[in-house]
Amino acid sequence: MTVLEAIQKSTEFLGKKGVESPRLQTELLLAHVLAMPRMKLYLNFERSLAPGEVDALREFLRRRSQREPLQHITGSTSFCGHEISVNRNVLVPRPETELLAECGWQFLAAVPAPPATALDFGTGSGCIAIALAAKCPTAALTALDLSALALGVARENAARSGVAERIEFLQSDGFAELAPGPKGVRRQFDLFISNPPYIPSQEIPTLQPEVRDFDPTGALDGGEDGLAFYRLIASQAGAHLKPGGKLMMEFGDGQADAIREILEREKWVVEAVKEDYSHRARIVIARL
Ligand SMILES: C[S@@+](CC[C@H](N)C(=O)[O-])C[C@H]1O[C@@H](n2cnc3c(N)ncnc32)[C@H](O)[C@@H]1O
Repeated sequence: MTVLEAIQKSTEFLGKKGVESPRLQTELLLAHVLAMPRMKLYLNFERSLAPGEVDALREFLRRRSQREPLQHITGSTSFCGHEISVNRNVLVPRPETELLAECGWQFLAAVPAPPATALDFGTGSGCIAIALAAKCPTAALTALDLSALALGVARENAARSGVAERIEFLQSDGFAELAPGPKGVRRQFDLFISNPPYIPSQEIPTLQPEVRDFDPTGALDGGEDGLAFYRLIASQAGAHLKPGGKLMMEFGDGQADAIREILEREKWVVEAVKEDYSHRARIVIARL
């Protein structure tokens, strides 16, 4: 079988299984099997696949047809230019979240009294903390998550990107581990950044199988109306911000107005609501 024949047959197969963008998914899987950039496939249409390559592709197609995410099959994704390993213990980083990270490093880089400090609340794979640490070489980061397994993935990702030394990994249920210690010192940061779980609990069964069955439920479930973490953060993050500090959060479709209300009730000033690539309100920036 040639590369072109493999692409055609596999595209048809994945399409019948209801996988979105089956041609692109096929090309990415085949490029992974052949260890070449996807665009190089186009220069190799007539190349014959070795039996081992056909077997590997067949196995990947089987997994993808069962709606396992492409990133779980290839083992990683790219986030702000960093290779981020993913597995069932962490949310697969989404492209929209790169915009949140960008807002974060633009602010951190301009903090007048370095070293700037930031807390990535619900770090998952560590993608946001890693991007911030890489863009702001003097900043000190804290990457917090409830899941010890997620923190293990985040630590490995940070090491691969060469920024693990500047990130503190903190296992904490919400703000529990940020409480003042025996000497009463409160931990404060210039930036509080978060992409918290924001799917209403009852909507989780209706999500695409790639998300519902493979992203950890703890990374998705935002409580009854999806807003539980915004209420928690709005009521508690202020105590952990330095003067002049900022709160930046990602949120889901249609949640902008409710989140503004939650923040304003807790005396936050909403400075900006930013849209994602599909012009949907996605990021809120606030200060006290
Ligand atoms: C939507 S994911 C975001 C992951 C990553 N920051 C990203 O943007 O791809 C939310 C993260 O919050 C974590 N989380 C859920 N409940 C938490 C809690 N009570 N305390 C701390 N972290 C929590 C989850 O384990 C998950 O890693």
